[in-house]
Amino acid sequence: MYRLGQKEIDEVSKVIKAKKMLRMGDPKTGHLQEANRFEKEWAQTIGVKYALLISGGGTAGLMAGLAGMGIGPGDEVIVPGYTFMATASAVLMVGAIPVIAEINETMTLDPRDMEKKIGPKTKAVIPVHMRGIPSDMQQITALARKHNIKVLEDCCQADGGSFKGKRLGSWGQAGAYSFNDYKIMSSGEGGAMVTNDNKIYQRAAIFSDSGTNFRQYVGDYTVPIFLGLQFRATEIMGAILRMQLQRLPGMLADLRRIRSRFMTELSGKPGIRFAPSNDTKGDCGVVVTFQHDSEKEARAFAAAKGVGGGLPIDSGKHVYCNWDPILKHRIGHHPGMNPYRMPLNKGLRLNYTRNMCPRTLDILKRTVFISLNPDWTEAQVRTQIEACRKAGASL
Ligand SMILES: Cc1ncc(COP(=O)(O)O)c(C=O)c1O
Repeated sequence: MYRLGQKEIDEVSKVIKAKKMLRMGDPKTGHLQEANRFEKEWAQTIGVKYALLISGGGTAGLMAGLAGMGIGPGDEVIVPGYTFMATASAVLMVGAIPVIAEINETMTLDPRDMEKKIGPKTKAVIPVHMRGIPSDMQQITALARKHNIKVLEDCCQADGGSFKGKRLGSWGQAGAYSFNDYKIMSSGEGGAMVTNDNKIYQRAAIFSDSGTNFRQYVGDYTVPIFLGLQFRATEIMGAILRMQLQRLPGMLADLRRIRSRFMTELSGKPGIRFAPSNDTKGDCGVVVTFQHDSEKEARAFAAAKGVGGGLPIDSGKHVYCNWDPILKHRIGHHPGMNPYRMPLNKGLRLNYTRNMCPRTLDILKRTVFISLNPDWTEAQVRTQIEACRKAGASL
């Protein structure tokens, strides 16, 4: 749903003409510093000290955040049951165990269930701002402080969103973003991790560059250098994303304007009920969320002429009961590297069932999303709203 055009083409051309695509290089030799510049601009946008651009996507961004926090075998991390499987797989890929919690009607992590799920081995929670909808970061961060656990925000579907005027990703100890092809900003694939914590940043940077110990800048590092993976960003990504960032305010303004039209014009109409929101102003406006009393009603509304709605229960990969590799403990390329078999994870909550979060499944069956397009014309918006009004009235 991102916008893309000449600006990106021009900036990528400059990188190619400079023949300097590796992110490391000396500006005196014509290196454009696109990845570095994007990181500075992204940190400034989010309102944090550090941003790390990562080629491995939001998944690697989440992994870098967890690695930065020192999370690994022996630790449990709470994730909501409604998110892309990558949120939970990032936890497993650093050797820790995901504990799955309920969402509430806002479509984000239920703080009450989160608190219930905190156990003696819980080290962190990952609230997910699904479909650009902000989680209740006030309650989540307060509970995390109370129980002394860390917060890593999964902002992969919410690039640029905010909660109570503060950008998503800046509420927790760290935040992760995705720039894959389905997101608000995109470089095809890619992601980022942000934090205010210098140690988390250093460890995340080390984790994402397998050659860290050979870099000159490590002279300034204060944490021990360990062997990491290779998620270094390219200059091409940096160049594209700097332009995507310039488009972000316009994208969000258009999405929010269209969402607000739906909310105002359909509010109180028969058969129409919007999902409650933790912060409607900070919502990215990617979707309008309708809720119904039953799945039958939701399906009738979604399928009505011109509505084009979808039920999140049908989205497969975003619903925990479809995360087969996790439910069946098939993790990694070698049994010895499977967190469910690691001695340090013995005694943690390793087992899942397909109906372990019944409230989440119930909500996902009664909810209808309409995905918004920032480039819809006025006539398209009006037609779409009218289709929803008719569909609600006919229920
Ligand atoms: C909520 C959520 N978390 C994590 C990810 C992983 O991001 P990526 O595919 O960029 O690794 C995605 C991507 O779709 C996502 O939607």
